[in-house]
Amino acid sequence: MAETSYRESHKYQGKGAEYEQYYQTQAWQKFLWSREQRIILRVLDKYLAGREVHLLDFACGTGRIAGLLEDRVTSSTGVDVSGSMLAVAREKLNRTRIIEADLTAENILKPRRFNLITAFRFFLNAEPELRRVAMRALADLLDDEGYLVFNNHQNLSSPWTRLLYWRHLRKNPQGIFNVMSIQEMRQLVREAGLEIVEIFPVGFFHPPKVPVSSSLNRAIDNVASRVKFLSRFCESPVAVCRRRKNDGIDAAASRK
Ligand SMILES: C[S@@+](CC[C@H](N)C(=O)[O-])C[C@H]1O[C@@H](n2cnc3c(N)ncnc32)[C@H](O)[C@@H]1O
Repeated sequence: MAETSYRESHKYQGKGAEYEQYYQTQAWQKFLWSREQRIILRVLDKYLAGREVHLLDFACGTGRIAGLLEDRVTSSTGVDVSGSMLAVAREKLNRTRIIEADLTAENILKPRRFNLITAFRFFLNAEPELRRVAMRALADLLDDEGYLVFNNHQNLSSPWTRLLYWRHLRKNPQGIFNVMSIQEMRQLVREAGLEIVEIFPVGFFHPPKVPVSSSLNRAIDNVASRVKFLSRFCESPVAVCRRRKNDGIDAAASRK
């Protein structure tokens, strides 16, 4: 039997409300989001300061990222395939044009270009073919001087992800447990003509079933993210990408 595409996963009634609830109650998700917000604002400041910013939030879901950015950018567009997720986004967002569409089937936004494209909690979850076509569709919409920011919330080098993955392989090898390495992130963007210029490490201490306070997590992240050697072990890295200029830059970033 053919596996269902990730495209279908958030379409059922009530999924939007469920997702919203998940983000408001799960300590780890709340912690990651607090870190991600700072990083996204840092990216805006570091890479796009003083410029008009035209945002495309791909797979925008309930509008988490667009909600943070819509008042800070010139224009904001959110795209998703799930009406259920977008119903929540519509209640929340004021300045964002919300579009229910699958850009991987038909890139209806072409020939528009955006100088900031975000895609959070999408690429890890998507099956390999969807990852590739989505990255290519986004590369087509990225301005020559623009940046694409995406995350991978189960980095294979994280010891906690590895532990859960190993357990999954032992107990339920037929099931789905997606993981992605930083190498795979680089490969994915490279195939679409992009390169990673910076990776922000997020989420270092996530032992399964052990409650860890946000303040302890923040302290650990603060220290660990300053130590270059440790960066690769974070659970949820955020990558900043641009159109590939030459291979040397990507290689330099990979040595960081
Ligand atoms: C885990 S949610 C993430 C939502 C939001 N980006 C966030 O970080 O909160 C993943 C989203 O990807 C959407 N999605 C899946 N396939 C898609 C596609 N081909 N085009 C656009 N969105 C898609 C789902 O409908 C879902 O809303």
